[in-house]
Amino acid sequence: MTKNVYILYISLSGNTHNFVQRLTNHLKEQGIIVHSLNVKDNFNFRKLEHPFITILPAFLDGGNGRQNGCHEILSPILSHWLGYADNYHRCYGIIGSGNRNFNRQFALTAKQYARRFKFPYLTDFELRGSEQDVQRIANLIVEKSTEAE
Ligand SMILES: Cc1cc2nc3c(=O)[nH]c(=O)nc-3n(C[C@H](O)[C@H](O)[C@H](O)COP(=O)(O)O)c2cc1C
Repeated sequence: MTKNVYILYISLSGNTHNFVQRLTNHLKEQGIIVHSLNVKDNFNFRKLEHPFITILPAFLDGGNGRQNGCHEILSPILSHWLGYADNYHRCYGIIGSGNRNFNRQFALTAKQYARRFKFPYLTDFELRGSEQDVQRIANLIVEKSTEAE
């Protein structure tokens, strides 16, 4: 039987989209079909029927990620998707991304979502991710999706 994997993500400037495309191609070689949804500017909220994974790059206001710079900007639409029809109940983990130049703020938004929605923070990658990241995260998603089925 064909295995399917579902990914909810947001990509504003294309890095995460590029990563998801490479991940999709990599998993396709293993006979796994990826169904992904980029929620950038997508206000057509709906119930997500299948268990899914979320990928979220960080967009925070200026600061250090401790006393300040903890406030999400640009990506709150993803939290609306997760809240809609209790979609977050079917999310079995979140993967963060960002730019390591942001130091403590690196991938912080996904960590905040994990605490807020109570799903596990699985791992992270930087910008478009390396080929090693694609392989590593593909393996992780296969493992976690199998557990969630
Ligand atoms: C306004 C703005 C704020 C950002 N804030 C953070 C941040 O707090 N932490 C971080 O790791 N990366 C931060 N980034 C970097 C993005 O997360 C990174 O470029 C990511 O790959 C963007 O994904 P996308 O191209 O799929 O939209 C920020 C980028 C912008 C434009």
